[in-house]
Amino acid sequence: MTKYRIAWLPGDGVGAEVLEAARLVLERVDFDAETIPGDIGWEFWRSEGNPLPQRTIDLLKSTDACLFGAITSKPKDEAAAELAPDLRGKGLTYSSPIVGLRQLFNLHTNLRPCKAYPGNPLNLRDDIDLVVFRENTEGLYAGVEFHPVPEGIRNALNSHPKMKRFSGVANEDMAISTRIFTRKGCQTILRDAFDYATTHGYKTVTVVEKPNVIRETSGLMVREARAIAQEYPDIELWETNVDAMCMWLVKNPQNYGVLASSNMFGDIISDLAAQIVGGLGFAAAGNIGDTYAVFEPTHGSAPKYAGQNKVNPIATIRAAKMMLDYLGEREKAQKIERAVAQVIAEGRIRTYDMGGTATTTQMAEAIASAIS
Ligand code: IPM
Ligand code: MG
Repeated sequence: MTKYRIAWLPGDGVGAEVLEAARLVLERVDFDAETIPGDIGWEFWRSEGNPLPQRTIDLLKSTDACLFGAITSKPKDEAAAELAPDLRGKGLTYSSPIVGLRQLFNLHTNLRPCKAYPGNPLNLRDDIDLVVFRENTEGLYAGVEFHPVPEGIRNALNSHPKMKRFSGVANEDMAISTRIFTRKGCQTILRDAFDYATTHGYKTVTVVEKPNVIRETSGLMVREARAIAQEYPDIELWETNVDAMCMWLVKNPQNYGVLASSNMFGDIISDLAAQIVGGLGFAAAGNIGDTYAVFEPTHGSAPKYAGQNKVNPIATIRAAKMMLDYLGEREKAQKIERAVAQVIAEGRIRTYDMGGTATTTQMAEAIASAIS
């Protein structure tokens, strides 16, 4: 019997290649796990009308954690056009399976560490060490959207004085995406951010919202942040609007530590934070709930590089490292972390994004060999 059961979801495009790269490194640290492959992604949307089949959900339920590769997503109409002929016209709509997994398993916290590895030619600076905590199940991603706007919703909204301006607009000429925050959702992401700052030695938590304009939802997040900050006297709470945050992240990223934000703003600032430490080839994420977690590189399926053994596997290797941390395998996780840092610092093996010619496999092998 192995110690762990890991759901292994390569997904689309380069997903399979980067997951195999992570496998090389996990084997090298003697990670004692059975990896069980599961179906997810575009292929299953086309052939079954569901990119996240029930059998995959059942598989995840029988495992300790999941490592996930990448997914191709396309807009609604393009997705519908690619369905197998017998599935067309049945009202099936594509929705992102990773967003689905986050909600289905209540993976409320999206943890995205963005640390510059010294020697990476892509760093904006070498002293950046940011960690983004992104609320992962609510906000604009909750999926409560309308087009055309149903009459009942319209009537309910009309009780708001600001709706007057839209009185001449027909229901079919209006689209509404709701931004739902719950107190519990805000508290959970903020508490996770403060706990992480405490245990990992960060001095500040910056709540990134826009309460001067989006008064109710961003306002709730910031009010909860102030209340929770009282319980962490050693950590300073900073409040920064999301637009200004984008500017500061380019100007003075070294001044920040932990950032906490809602789903959509967290999505945006985490791409920005990823780019200043090397880009999506380095960015890993943990989707973490109370009883389960899914780890992934934050890049997409990069169809134009699929099958070329070309993309940088470091993001996925770091995702695997985060999975080890989650499972309590700290020593193995640290070995991977040190090996990644060493290979980057040495600078002999670099993938195309870093200006080199190394393949996905060569980078993974270099990291595996650096593990002592
Ligand atoms: C991410 C990605 C996803 C998101 C997409 C692929 C649905 O951008 O993980 O940041 O928007 O959350
Ligand atoms: Mg994103």
